Amino acid sequence: MERMSDGSSFFVTTPIFYVNDVPHIGHAYTEVAADVLARWHRQRGDDTWFLTGTDEHGQKILRTATANGVTPQEWADKLVEEAWKPLLETIDLSNDDFIRTTEKRHEENVQKFLQHLYDTGYIYTGEYEGFYCVGCEEYKQPGDLLDGEGDYAGQKVCAIHSKPVELLHEKNYFFKMSAFAEQLLALYEERPDFVQPESARNEVMSFVRSGLDDLSISRSSFDWGVKVPWDETHVVYVWFDALLNYVTAVGYGQDDAEFERRWPATHLVGKDILRFHAVIWPAMLMAAGLQVPHRVFGHGWLLVGGEKMSKSKLTGIAPTQITDTFGSDAFRYYFLRAIHFGQDGSFSWEDLHARYTSELANGFGNLASRVIAMVNRYCDGVIPAAGDMTDADAAIRAIERTATATASIAIDRLAIHEAIGTVWELVDALNGYITEQEPWALAKDPEKRERLETVLNTAVRGLGTLAVLLSPVLTKATATLWTALGGDGVVQDVRIDQAWEWTGSGTVTPLEALFPRIETSAE
Ligand code: MSP
Repeated sequence: MERMSDGSSFFVTTPIFYVNDVPHIGHAYTEVAADVLARWHRQRGDDTWFLTGTDEHGQKILRTATANGVTPQEWADKLVEEAWKPLLETIDLSNDDFIRTTEKRHEENVQKFLQHLYDTGYIYTGEYEGFYCVGCEEYKQPGDLLDGEGDYAGQKVCAIHSKPVELLHEKNYFFKMSAFAEQLLALYEERPDFVQPESARNEVMSFVRSGLDDLSISRSSFDWGVKVPWDETHVVYVWFDALLNYVTAVGYGQDDAEFERRWPATHLVGKDILRFHAVIWPAMLMAAGLQVPHRVFGHGWLLVGGEKMSKSKLTGIAPTQITDTFGSDAFRYYFLRAIHFGQDGSFSWEDLHARYTSELANGFGNLASRVIAMVNRYCDGVIPAAGDMTDADAAIRAIERTATATASIAIDRLAIHEAIGTVWELVDALNGYITEQEPWALAKDPEKRERLETVLNTAVRGLGTLAVLLSPVLTKATATLWTALGGDGVVQDVRIDQAWEWTGSGTVTPLEALFPRIETSAE
């Protein structure tokens, strides 16, 4: 596995989100995962770029806008300003760019890409009849459909949206995707971590093995989209347009140096849109003679009551419902720690509250408060120097070192839950250390002064290491802790791959509770 701690390029993306509705915690989940990876890499000295944005064309947005009595552009502008951009702050994202598919920098270069494929013979005219799901913005194969129930009895419905599909017959432009089946299979074989996790890779491989059709890439029955450059009676199929955001945002077609510097990317996507990213997208890039993505990771779904959480099924939870009570740090921590990244995870308020209390408030927050309070009480706030080390002190140093190294390796494997779990071993070890060493007892005996100072020094150093290692996840609490520890500058500027090397010096300042107790139920 590649190590990328040498200033090399790291480009991470989220899907661009449909602006037909406001964000829910499923969207915010991908965002925080990408944000933690970006922050980690930045803090390791990599040339990092984190891209997110919005998907604004297509029939779904057009219909929502029309139903609300405004133009699609007005609708998109409103949702972006009132809902999607505010989300960045709600969950404290550090994105470097935010692309909207209605921007000129995107539309012009989508046209360039398409024209290039047309000129090189990868696009032809044809006819297609099939069942289209507007929710997915995708033609469905009969095997993807279910028999409708209740209001939709007698109709075929989309398995994801549970809404009827529409039979469409159109004369369209087609992309010769079938020409890339062999090359795609070779790619999955040669680069086993191109599609992750393993279950996603298997699914994609068997899909491609079962045969690839060409792809209809234009629509002429409505006009909300990027115009096909050689035939303005057609607009580009919304997915073809949307996937290109990953390259138009980093200079494709207009800034070759920037494009060289950033591309290819690590794409994080929900498993429902894996095929678009792991099949269609690399085929498009191959046709254009561009590099395929670095890797495509399909994460699981947040389940509520056992079902994929979604607005259309009325199980949607807005991120602010959580952050208003628990704060953005707890949001970020909870979803990334409690769910094995790559698998589905059930959300419940009880579980969130329980982890907040035991892990953040009692585990980490309380540790920080106690250690700083003892330095204040026993040493007048001056971080003491260490004397002779015992095995117990050395064990803490060893865990700091292992956590620093192991967490970084887990991040390279996109095992975010494992990275946090590894760092938490240090939280637990420090809590155990304080309990065993009993600094409050040592403080009562003047002859044990040197031992007290060594214990507090070890504990402060451990806390500093934790502040650095947890800063990509607990962005706010670690900044507060760093200040209280008298750390230099901002914690986000301290090299995360050297977190264990931090040695405290100078004075501490009192620390407010990092994670105040939340007694009431958040529901
Ligand atoms: N616009 C397309 C993506 C285009 S990318 C070139 C799209 N948008 S979306 O807004 O519908 O979904 C965005 C992401 O949110 C997807 O990755 C999807 O998997 C994710 N999620 C939607 N509901 C989710 C859960 N309940 N749980 C986890 N992720 C979920 O698709």
